[in-house]
Amino acid sequence: TDPALIRNFCIIAHIDHGKSTLADRMLQITGVVDDRSMRAQYLDRMDIERERGITIKSQAVRLPWDGHVLNMIDTPGHVDFTYEVSRSLQACEGAILLVDAAQGIEAQTLANLYLAMNADLHIIPVLNKIDLPAAQPEKFAEELAGLIGCDPSDVLRVSGKTGVGVRELLDHVVASVPAPVGKADAAARALIFDSVYDTYRGVVTYVRVIDGHLSKRERILMMSTSATHETLEIGVISPEPKPSELGLGVGEVGYLITGVKDVRQSRVGDTVTSATKPAAEMLAGYEHPKPMVFSGLYPIDGDEYPELREALDKLQLNDAALVYEPETSAALGFGFRVGFLGLLHMEIVRERLEREFGLSLISTAPNVVYRVVMEDGSELTVTNPSEFPTGGKIAQVFEPVTKSTILAPAEFIGAIMEICQGRRGQLQGMDYLSEDRVEIRYTLPLGEIIFDFFDQLKSRTRGYASLDYEPAGEAEADLVKVDILLQGEAVDAFSAIVHKDKAYAYGVDMAKKLRELIPRQQFEVPIQAAIGARVIARENIRAIRKDVLAKCYGGDISRKRKLLEKQKEGKKRMKMVGRVEVPQEAFVAALSTD
Ligand code: GTP
Repeated sequence: TDPALIRNFCIIAHIDHGKSTLADRMLQITGVVDDRSMRAQYLDRMDIERERGITIKSQAVRLPWDGHVLNMIDTPGHVDFTYEVSRSLQACEGAILLVDAAQGIEAQTLANLYLAMNADLHIIPVLNKIDLPAAQPEKFAEELAGLIGCDPSDVLRVSGKTGVGVRELLDHVVASVPAPVGKADAAARALIFDSVYDTYRGVVTYVRVIDGHLSKRERILMMSTSATHETLEIGVISPEPKPSELGLGVGEVGYLITGVKDVRQSRVGDTVTSATKPAAEMLAGYEHPKPMVFSGLYPIDGDEYPELREALDKLQLNDAALVYEPETSAALGFGFRVGFLGLLHMEIVRERLEREFGLSLISTAPNVVYRVVMEDGSELTVTNPSEFPTGGKIAQVFEPVTKSTILAPAEFIGAIMEICQGRRGQLQGMDYLSEDRVEIRYTLPLGEIIFDFFDQLKSRTRGYASLDYEPAGEAEADLVKVDILLQGEAVDAFSAIVHKDKAYAYGVDMAKKLRELIPRQQFEVPIQAAIGARVIARENIRAIRKDVLAKCYGGDISRKRKLLEKQKEGKKRMKMVGRVEVPQEAFVAALSTD
């Protein structure tokens, strides 16, 4: 295709403002999906995406329109997946900034707009859901125009649901988004913006060609790893993969398959070039996403450890942001310390492991990454509370902090400030977006955000507040490790790093919970919470004498034997902490957040 006829654009928006629905209408209106095969959220291909109604992976699709080729990339809206958005942006020249006409600008509207501006994209402001009775297009067109510096009349109005305005929007994309520019005769350079593992086809690599041409049956070179492969298939997505005999030229977006089975050989952000006529320089890649939140993942059935490893390996083929390494816990056995982008990412990975790979898992409480400086000047990075040094030799502890932006109706300012203050937030500034909506900026420790912050924010503002945050370095904090001891023995899975002011509450809470969850033993079991050697809370589980055989009066031997066997089976699902038997369920229950 002549690059002059190509338009590459993405849709960016706050979560639920209707990107996927608008994408559906575009698929339909351009005839790529006929009315009969249409289903909601057509491009959200994962079950979990469809059930939750959210987009996790970006999707690229080619749409014919008015003699042109439009490549549309649908992007996820949740803050955890911002890195997916930035990847997609680099494959585009334009972005539709979509805003719900009944909600107005929200936290991720701003965050995504800034990403798009940084990527130098042409921005098309659009109000969506104008069919809603509660829509206030005049008001929000003004808000949006004020934000990007255009005239309110330049803000387009559409309904992804009814299709109103969508044709005009497509025409506008053709007219206003710049065509891609590249050197057709130069050595091929294509940017990998996604890489997906498919059980049947191996790794499917999504690329945007910048210069030159990629063909079928060509030896290609991955510039960062120097690995070479042969392209077995190359094509475009419209809306299913369509092999193309012509290959991909300048400005085109499509996929290639080389038969490799490992996504790490086809890394997102890497440059693909020809192995026989390689380009001299790589394209600017992406920053590799950095895990922000860590948690231990253990199979409930210890025998499933190899399956868990295999499942993580497979999932990583699809999820460049997922990192993990083996760890052992005295309480939980063999498992992995896994790094995630955020809580939603964590939830999704866990759910996919359980659902797609049939595993039952326990996960330990999430924590952020700490930097501990010792008095002798040495330093360590702590991603697991059990690595936190004990004893008096710690000089300083640093925790990651965020620049957080909260958007909400002005009536909730008081409530929001109260929550943020209670979580060691520092107010950085406040602006009115319109007379009744404010943007409040805080510096907040990430460790406080990952602990039900968003739920609280939502409930205290009746769902009206939205939150976005980005990493903003680290800050020193008064943090301690609280250990939970059973009969004097620390249970590593329950240790947590918390702020000094919250240590007592955590200790009491955990000790109480465990007293209820752990059955009585033949002897008394003290449960203690301690900071180092100092005990801050204590509970007791009283002793019982558990004589199961006493129940079988009479001499029915086979019944006795059965009972003993049953007890043995039960024991297998017990973990020993010192002399204390802790049922697996107690770990699961104590570690689940309520
Ligand atoms: P994420 O992919 O999770 O970021 O969400 P999204 O922005 O793709 O939103 P989605 O398209 O899933 O729409 C969110 C909700 O808004 C759904 O319940 C849609 O049915 C509804 N919706 C989307 N567009 C319109 C519209 O134009 N009018 C009305 N009335 N509802 C809409």
